[in-house]
Amino acid sequence: MALQTFKGDRHQPQGYIRTHPYLNAPNTMPIDLPLARSLTPGCEHVVHFNNAGSSLMPRPVLDAVKEHLDLEARIGGYEAAALATLKWERAYDAIATMLNCTREEVALMENASRAWEQAFHAVPLKSGDRILTSHAEYVSNWLAFLLVKERTGCSVELVPDDEHGQIDLEALRTMLDERVKLVAITHVPSSNGLINPVEEIGAIIRGSNALYLLDACQSAGQLPLDVERIGCDMLSATGRKFLRGPRGTGFLYVRKSALEKLDPVFIEHQSATWESLDHFAWRPDARRFETWEKSYANVIGLAEAVAHALHWGLDNIAERVQGLAADLRSQLGELPGVTVHDLGLRKSGIVTFTVQGKDAMHIMERLSEQRINVTVARKEIARLDFEHRGLEQVVRASTHYFNSQEEVERFVKTVEGMR
Ligand SMILES: Cc1ncc(COP(=O)(O)O)c(C=O)c1O
Repeated sequence: MALQTFKGDRHQPQGYIRTHPYLNAPNTMPIDLPLARSLTPGCEHVVHFNNAGSSLMPRPVLDAVKEHLDLEARIGGYEAAALATLKWERAYDAIATMLNCTREEVALMENASRAWEQAFHAVPLKSGDRILTSHAEYVSNWLAFLLVKERTGCSVELVPDDEHGQIDLEALRTMLDERVKLVAITHVPSSNGLINPVEEIGAIIRGSNALYLLDACQSAGQLPLDVERIGCDMLSATGRKFLRGPRGTGFLYVRKSALEKLDPVFIEHQSATWESLDHFAWRPDARRFETWEKSYANVIGLAEAVAHALHWGLDNIAERVQGLAADLRSQLGELPGVTVHDLGLRKSGIVTFTVQGKDAMHIMERLSEQRINVTVARKEIARLDFEHRGLEQVVRASTHYFNSQEEVERFVKTVEGMR
């Protein structure tokens, strides 16, 4: 592949070379389904409706990871990382391009939970401070709120839902005061189908005292994400879900102006420089939240995965994912005994449902026998949302752009046969 110099790109430090044409030329055409499927080896083996769990890697991602592992085995891990600097450095550029930020505002992580925790625990909180969040917040985020509430005496408050089940914007506006230090929102919750109105939330928070932390774990790779439009200060995401990267990857965005408001919890020689025996200085960029050791093969795979998503175009991906999910929802909803439980004015690629008289695990296992992948969301990991709605467990099916209408139909027929 020819090397390309990127001119006039504000994300690039001078002289930096990107190595991938995808980053220069996003696809403006609708997604070429046969091509997308032929680039996805897993399509030959399974009907994959577990993209919100971990998606199927496309061939270029798989090849990039394998190639680097081979190189490590051949010449040594440190030597391979040095030789492949452009390839793994490209991860920062690809993510910055996707988020509309600078590469200095990106830190690489091993998953979304670490990314979110690094940001959250760095927010200085004390007794009397308030955290605002919603019923859609992810289980681990809520656990962290409970921990910090116990340790600091800050309060954690739920903004009510509106009539569509998403965060009530007027209630948020009313609840916001100078004691609110953090608004933490999950963009696409893992088990209720909605897409939170994150730009509107950002517009309300702007100008207040609060930092805005967005959990974009399920939205990265599924929806366009522009941190300027959203207005968030921090954003966390994972690689293996809708981005179709390798497992064990994730990233954190930290707005440059938010860096100085945060106190990172951990320190090591990637995050700071040891200036003299008694002094250190934090790195000036978001990499102060990183650790030095990482899986370079995975990082290279993540770079490839983000480039792949950018190539198809996130608007195109969103349209296809939501279109397939809407079909799945409406076809399932027509089956007697099947109830779709999704919320939201705008819905994501996550479809949740129950079948009368059938255990969700049973449905998942029966689908798996037909090589159809889904997962189950249980109350134990979604208490905030499920207790509120009186739900115990639901089957979760999640579509991606490489899924086909035939797969949707096969899925619905299989569920129909189980009632
Ligand atoms: C909304 C949301 N946030 C965070 C996470 C945690 O991501 P990870 O498993 O990469 O740490 C998940 C995982 O399912 C999720 O759905």
